[in-house]
Amino acid sequence: MLSVIIVAAGSSERMGFDKVFAPIAGRPMISYTIDAFERAACVDDIILVGRSDSLPEFRKLLPPKTKVSNIVPGGAERSDSVRAGLSQLVPQARFVAVHDAARPMIAPEKIELVFEACRAHGAAALAEPITDTLKRGEFNSEGANPHLVVTGSVDRKQLYAMQTPQIFKRDVLDQAYEKALEKRLSVTDEVSAVELLGHEVVIVPNHDFNFKITYPRDFLLAEFVLRQRAANK
Ligand code: CTP
Ligand code: MG
Repeated sequence: MLSVIIVAAGSSERMGFDKVFAPIAGRPMISYTIDAFERAACVDDIILVGRSDSLPEFRKLLPPKTKVSNIVPGGAERSDSVRAGLSQLVPQARFVAVHDAARPMIAPEKIELVFEACRAHGAAALAEPITDTLKRGEFNSEGANPHLVVTGSVDRKQLYAMQTPQIFKRDVLDQAYEKALEKRLSVTDEVSAVELLGHEVVIVPNHDFNFKITYPRDFLLAEFVLRQRAANK
């Protein structure tokens, strides 16, 4: 059984307003995210983690027939919200996916691909190959005006920007989060936690849009992408 934890309990600081319920083409962002997991055949169960003051709002937007079995309050850091979700897993959940609510452009086919890789290797994550030329930069504070200067190159050939979903055998993810707690490390994604165990994580390259909605400008592009997808169905 595959359970999904959708983390939606952030404070949208860089956005400046609550991005989770902000509309994209007339529907709240979170409803696109939930819908992709409702439609992915491999997903059995969904746990929503939200801000405690907005839990009733989540309930209101769910369809009558839904895979969402639980809506729980999150914590101060993303990893606290993931832990809140992990604590709600049913015993039958052998696999766990974690997904950012702020990635509404995830497609069901991509969820299936990551799950297949996880079944074969125990841990897998969607990631985008880097296409930009990368440079290291440092402030040069000599002289009157400090300025940022190029100090070196980074080979992009082996670099990937990690996305979600990230899917794991449940015992692997449980152990990874225990290890992070033991080492008092704050991890920004699940792959970082699983790396602490030395467990292999398979990268599933994604060439489709799945960027995280972070700044107001991201809504414009997301709306375009989601409208195009709806028109091409
Ligand atoms: N998240 C969460 N609990 C937190 C922090 C983040 O559930 N304490 C969730 C967010 O709701 C989001 C995902 O993790 O779906 C990725 O986080 P991010 O895009 O950084 O969202 P925010 O933390 O809300 O934004 P910001 O960092 O700008 O405040
Ligand atoms: Mg954040």
